[in-house]
Amino acid sequence: MRILIVHCHPDPHSFNAGLTTLAASTLRAQGHDVEISDLYADGFDPVEGPAHYPLRAQADAFSPLTEQRHASETGRLPTDVQREIARLERAELVIFQFPLWWHAQPAMLKGWMDRVFVYGGLYTSRRRYDEGYFRGRRALCSVTTGGPTTTFGQGGRGGNIDWLLWPIHYSLYYMGFDVLPPFLAHGIQGGGPTYQNSERFAAQLEDDKARWVQRLAGLDEDRPLPFTGWDDWDEHGALKPGVEGFDPFIQSGTGGWVANRERYLQGQERRQPD
Ligand SMILES: Cc1cc2nc3c(=O)[nH]c(=O)nc-3n(C[C@H](O)[C@H](O)[C@H](O)COP(=O)(O)O)c2cc1C
Repeated sequence: MRILIVHCHPDPHSFNAGLTTLAASTLRAQGHDVEISDLYADGFDPVEGPAHYPLRAQADAFSPLTEQRHASETGRLPTDVQREIARLERAELVIFQFPLWWHAQPAMLKGWMDRVFVYGGLYTSRRRYDEGYFRGRRALCSVTTGGPTTTFGQGGRGGNIDWLLWPIHYSLYYMGFDVLPPFLAHGIQGGGPTYQNSERFAAQLEDDKARWVQRLAGLDEDRPLPFTGWDDWDEHGALKPGVEGFDPFIQSGTGGWVANRERYLQGQERRQPD
């Protein structure tokens, strides 16, 4: 399988860098073809703006959507964006490796998405969600957090990690990917203050790495996260009557999404509209 790792961390000696190196060596040993897009090392510019479009469709105002579509149609996308798209197009699986920063992905990765997921080229009003450009390919977020595991569970102060990651997961689904459940390593404090003594922390890091290797070995068994799709929405873009969502962000309001998600996770078909 051809696999791309989009690596987002400024320090080559970080735990995140360790997870990327480990993933690359593990997957290569399994016979996969692995490419790495190292956003900081490559000096990727994550800020979308006029500087990337010397030959503009519109001179008097800067509309990112208009300029992205125009550059795509005229073959003038910025070279770094073309490089990233080519990497994505080669990959059957894309792994995103990043730390949780302010309850989301770092700005570098968000900006990569702003610039690389090109309007007009990779998505249009119809070519998105389950009809998206990358349909048939899979994506997986591997995320480290500073907060320990308990702070991301039921009632945890860090916030429900499934919902914190919903925006990036939904954006990947928007682009057509089948999004696999995330790999999570909690309580990673890097070179900074730790929640525990160094010996216990070192042992935990080794456990996390072993879990990552195990997860990578079983990728074929992973079932994508559930989302609603075009067949579920009416002409106004809202759920059709009787259709339940799978999460708090797109739901009918009856609370049926909880049971619907549970059914999906248990491997059963979703509840059909009445
Ligand atoms: C700008 C910034 C924001 C952060 N925000 C969060 C956060 O919202 N939740 C959390 O659990 N950890 C947060 N952290 C801690 C990082 O997630 C943690 O340092 C990282 O996962 C450790 O991995 P590393 O050693 O590879 O950097 C933040 C760290 C930074 C630098």
